[in-house]
Amino acid sequence: MSGSNRGAESEERDVVAMNPLFSRPGEATELPRNVLPPGESFPETAYQIVHDEAMLDGNARLNLATFVGTWMDPYAQRLNAETADKNMIDKDEYPATAAIETRCWKILGDLWNAPDPASTIGTSTIGSSEAAMLGGLALKRRWQHARRAAGKSTEKPNLVLSSAVQVCWEKFCNYWDVEARYVPISLEHKVLDGFELEKYVDENTIGVVAILGVTYTGAYEPVEKISAVLDEIQAATGLDVPIHVDGASGAMIAPFLQPDLVWDFRVERVVSINTSAHKYGLVYPGLGWVVWRDKAALPEDLVFSVSYLGGDMPTFALNFSRPGSQVLLQYYLFLRLGYDGYYKVQKASQDVALYLSGEIAKMPQFDLWNDGSDIPVFAWSLKKGYTDKWTLYHLSERLRTKGWLLPSYPMPVDLEELTVQRIVVRNGLSRDLAASLLGDIRTEIAFLDALESPMPVEAVSKGFHH
Ligand SMILES: Cc1ncc(COP(=O)(O)O)c(C=O)c1O
Repeated sequence: MSGSNRGAESEERDVVAMNPLFSRPGEATELPRNVLPPGESFPETAYQIVHDEAMLDGNARLNLATFVGTWMDPYAQRLNAETADKNMIDKDEYPATAAIETRCWKILGDLWNAPDPASTIGTSTIGSSEAAMLGGLALKRRWQHARRAAGKSTEKPNLVLSSAVQVCWEKFCNYWDVEARYVPISLEHKVLDGFELEKYVDENTIGVVAILGVTYTGAYEPVEKISAVLDEIQAATGLDVPIHVDGASGAMIAPFLQPDLVWDFRVERVVSINTSAHKYGLVYPGLGWVVWRDKAALPEDLVFSVSYLGGDMPTFALNFSRPGSQVLLQYYLFLRLGYDGYYKVQKASQDVALYLSGEIAKMPQFDLWNDGSDIPVFAWSLKKGYTDKWTLYHLSERLRTKGWLLPSYPMPVDLEELTVQRIVVRNGLSRDLAASLLGDIRTEIAFLDALESPMPVEAVSKGFHH
């Protein structure tokens, strides 16, 4: 109801106009957009302006592009509102929140089969990106210690990862001066699976990242197999290379849906695992976790102390202040759902993913890349030679007019010629909603197929970031 002018930046006025329904006698009817208003407004008016502007965001339920949770139940909402003031770093002021944080990562250490859960160490983070930075830093520091102890150079650390890693790992390598050694994926090796790993690993390798649920497609990387190849490399060269598992999505799926898959601390080389609580951990945005197998995996000189109940508490984080409420929400969900509850929620998402991928596989236009049986995420491409009238980008645009956000994007280096479209099935995408999505996909394909000439390609949007 405010005077927002979305999508027309160049024509945007430098004031926000107030709807006369909400303005009060004596109140300004326009507020400056980009500078602090000189005076006060009534809270109701300010609320209405922000509320109305935020309403212009997309509809989260139709957003099949994001992995991030968008719904929590009313009890979680109540808890969230009650605890929004807690600062996670103030362990002394909020000892109960601090204790709950510790309980949460211990629960995760146990869920991820740490051989001795009592000796694991972990922390909450703002998401998987911060967790990846911390996991990567620990790898780098461990490697530096070992190299210095052996009197060797620490000049040129490298990290081995799939070319399909999430951008947070590129950031890690860039920010912390670590050479990123990307192993390209291909049609024969759709994920990092240990193939030719010996060409990438050397004495400067601080670790290998294995992804449980590749962002591009949702497929798991075979951690056990990668570890077996690293065993062979060790036997041949003596190099003992650790693995960090980026389980941003999969670390909260595999324990419930694929409990027999060996990907976690059961694999001896796995020294640390991260996950995003705000993805399949089912918490509102702003929370991730990283857990180390044992204290030896996290060099002590990375850990700082904050005061806690008159003593000291170790912390390892990039941020100082950050919200504590999400940690409480995570614990609420652990209690509320337990193992069985998480299983049911994740299974429901997987059932919908398999239903959708099964139907899309039947469409003559597409080739499935995977079917959503790892994490409930899958991707497909347009069958080679099917049409020259439209691309997946056009289909994404057509679906957007119906409210669906279904991204299309090129695969990473060496496969960039291949464009895929992806669906992330999250809690909330019901089977009914999935059926109506399929109906819309069919309608839009019929429209595109019936065109007499090709769609223009110039203006098509490819702006998707993982
Ligand atoms: C595999 C993987 N790693 C890391 C991230 C980054 O996670 P976050 O958004 O929690 O920082 C993502 C996000 O999609 C991801 O899919």
